[in-house]
Amino acid sequence: MITIYKAKDYQDMSRKAANIISAQIIMKPNCVLGLATGSTPIGTYRQLVEWYKKGDLDFSKVTSVNLDEYKGLSGDNDQSYRYFMNTNLFDHVNIDKTKTFVPNGLEKDSEKACAEYNEIIQSVGGIDMQLLGIGGNGHIGFNEPGLAFEQKTHCVDLTESTIQANARFFESMDDVPKQAYTMGIKNIMSAKKILLVATGENKAEALYQSLYGKITPNVPASILQLHNDVTVVADEAALSLIIKKGEI
Ligand code: PGA
Repeated sequence: MITIYKAKDYQDMSRKAANIISAQIIMKPNCVLGLATGSTPIGTYRQLVEWYKKGDLDFSKVTSVNLDEYKGLSGDNDQSYRYFMNTNLFDHVNIDKTKTFVPNGLEKDSEKACAEYNEIIQSVGGIDMQLLGIGGNGHIGFNEPGLAFEQKTHCVDLTESTIQANARFFESMDDVPKQAYTMGIKNIMSAKKILLVATGENKAEALYQSLYGKITPNVPASILQLHNDVTVVADEAALSLIIKKGEI
């Protein structure tokens, strides 16, 4: 089941999403949060940090597992998703860093890295709430169109456009990650609850196709229609096509 909450703008989306995550932490202080990187959740994390600083939130018993990481990057690299999580959230709240998990980008053996990550997710008891952004093509995590829905954590080849877009952050082309480790759709679908956030007009088509279109690997997020507890928080621009089609 999918419930959609309409936000006025990015700030409103961020506050609503942070409220939902806060409620999860308050109701289950030792919950397992599935977290995401990208530009969309930054405001949500900022809001959570603010409420933590005010004394309204306690992360001390929270465990987190992130969706993905670039293969070959260490957590110190400012392009890594570990670095992103530390600087946007973990460094600013009282979460126990030993209970924050991101796929091990430095593990060269892909099978080992992925098997270990699946094991971690299982050993923490599964994910209570998974936060997701959505790509303009409907991707979730690094699960790009065309991938099988059945996969758990796996290694993906980054698309040429992603590699090129990242090139400016690295000294040489050799340093630019060509692959990433990502939770698969199966891991994501196993989360008890899913919270998807979206902002901006460039997500409108992907959001409409994902929530109201055919369920197909060509639109990875469309699988969410089969999950029984999905909450979407999106601003009016991201919802514009859904609103135009009269769905909400
Ligand atoms: P964005 O990325 O939040 O930077 O738009 C979302 C995604 O690609 O999953």
